[in-house]
Amino acid sequence: MAAKLKPNPSDHLLILIVVFLIAIDSFVPSTAEFSSSKWYLISTEHWVGPERLGPIFVYCGNEGDIAWFAANTGFVWEIAPQFGAMVLFPEHRYYGESMPFGSGEEAYKNASTLSYLTAEQALADFAVLITELKRNFSAEGCPVVLFGGSYGGMLASWMRLKYPHIAIGALASSAPILQFEDIVPVETFYDLTSNGFKRESISCFNTIKQSWDVIISEGQKNDGLLQLTKTFGFCRTLNNTDDLINWLDSAYSYLAMVNYPYPSEFLMPLPGHPIREVCRKIDSMAGDNILEKIFEGISVYYNYTGKVDCFELDDDPHGMDGWNWQACTEMVMPMSSSQDSSMFPTFDFDLSSYKEECLREFNVEPRPRWITTEFGGHDIKATLQKFGSNIIFSNGLLDPWSGGSVLQNISESIVALVTKEGAHHIDLRASTDEDPEWLVEQRTTEIKLIKSWINDYYRQKRAVFEI
Ligand SMILES: *[C@@H]1O[C@H](CO)[C@@H](O)[C@H](O)[C@H]1NC(C)=O
Ligand SMILES: *[C@@H]1O[C@H](CO)[C@@H](O)[C@H](O)[C@H]1NC(C)=O
Ligand SMILES: *[C@@H]1O[C@H](CO)[C@@H](O)[C@H](O)[C@H]1NC(C)=O
Ligand SMILES: *[C@@H]1O[C@H](CO)[C@@H](O)[C@H](O)[C@H]1NC(C)=O
Ligand SMILES: *[C@@H]1O[C@H](CO)[C@@H](O)[C@H](O)[C@H]1NC(C)=O
Repeated sequence: MAAKLKPNPSDHLLILIVVFLIAIDSFVPSTAEFSSSKWYLISTEHWVGPERLGPIFVYCGNEGDIAWFAANTGFVWEIAPQFGAMVLFPEHRYYGESMPFGSGEEAYKNASTLSYLTAEQALADFAVLITELKRNFSAEGCPVVLFGGSYGGMLASWMRLKYPHIAIGALASSAPILQFEDIVPVETFYDLTSNGFKRESISCFNTIKQSWDVIISEGQKNDGLLQLTKTFGFCRTLNNTDDLINWLDSAYSYLAMVNYPYPSEFLMPLPGHPIREVCRKIDSMAGDNILEKIFEGISVYYNYTGKVDCFELDDDPHGMDGWNWQACTEMVMPMSSSQDSSMFPTFDFDLSSYKEECLREFNVEPRPRWITTEFGGHDIKATLQKFGSNIIFSNGLLDPWSGGSVLQNISESIVALVTKEGAHHIDLRASTDEDPEWLVEQRTTEIKLIKSWINDYYRQKRAVFEI
């Protein structure tokens, strides 16, 4: 799900210059003895140091290469200097370079080697790293602020709740912590994705809606799969229409997530307002060949650079494969698509077939109630009003994940910052000259809130010293 980009090439420069990639061997003691390395990016360039209690900004790495998230989380790098903050980007175990058992191949071998891939273990890793690093820098007194986008945002908010002694606050951007069990309606995600297309063009929405039947009947013809392979420019011959449908489905969902107002390269190189562009292509094709229209439209997502010779079905350029395991164990997010309100093929979430698929693919049974048991979610307002503090839940309503996120203020210090035109954690991206006013304002509010957490902390510390 992860989820971001920055057109400014200096991003990469920044990382090359100030960041050291360091492997650590510290483990969460409760788990098995396996040799592993976990990686993190660190920059102390702007840190004012332990004497002045310089803050430590920690981005909770999510399901992909940490360098990719670091490059797409310009906000944290940009605000570090004004806070005199250290910046830390720990990688989530089982992603990127952070493979236990010596290699990705060994780590992903079977259900027992994968069993250490959990959100709780990832949080414990972050806690161990932060604690050890603080000790090494004699920075025990320095306040830690967590950041995260998407699943990383979920981790940031959960870490604030579970490790209040380690972090004083969290900015959880586009964090769908309520996308579990029956907390939000199952159609939410696909309805929001569909609305993103409908608001641009009803005919575009309708063309996509009609395309699924056309694909299925085309696939049933003699040589139909070969024809579809040619029409869509795949490198290898399609084995079934489901693969094509999933390929299109995920592109539409990703487009809704990265529907940013300016060009970006978070998941793919894309123009600004990419859904508008997809729909422009679909609507401007003359004639009534639905599949050609769909191909033109989808090429905006998969081939905007015009440099792709043929399409692979299973590209994973950002190393996000492990999410399937997580979805088959803890991260069971029920989703259906309705005939009426969505443009997707009708689909009813069914836990028993979900289970079967997980058993087939990983030999593991999902635990659909575990996340709410471990982290809560039901009646979150009542719970967190009394118990939690210092969390920002930021969301853009164009993002299909916003429907499973916290969109209401819970208390004085657990606040929801909601933007109508925002997409998936756009606030965490680096600023650009094209940033709309609402985005600039959102970031200003975030900075103000983070400052207030840190100042509260300093005030408390001083009080403690003075006694
Ligand atoms: C998984 O692989 C490991 C390492 O090869 C092996 O020791 C273990 O028995 C396997 N577990 C299962 C459930 O197949
Ligand atoms: C902390 O210092 C120890 C001893 O020098 C070192 O082995 C370890 O890697 C350091 N850990 C971190 C997170 O810096
Ligand atoms: C179709 O199935 C074969 C055999 O499993 C596989 O090698 C090939 O990659 C599949 N084609 C596509 C496009 O996935
Ligand atoms: C990608 O775009 C280029 C330029 O329009 C085109 O020549 C190429 O055929 C496209 N690739 C696919 C797989 O459609
Ligand atoms: C929550 O409170 C903040 C002020 O702390 C305000 O800026 C924001 O608009 C409120 N959010 C909602 C969803 O009402």
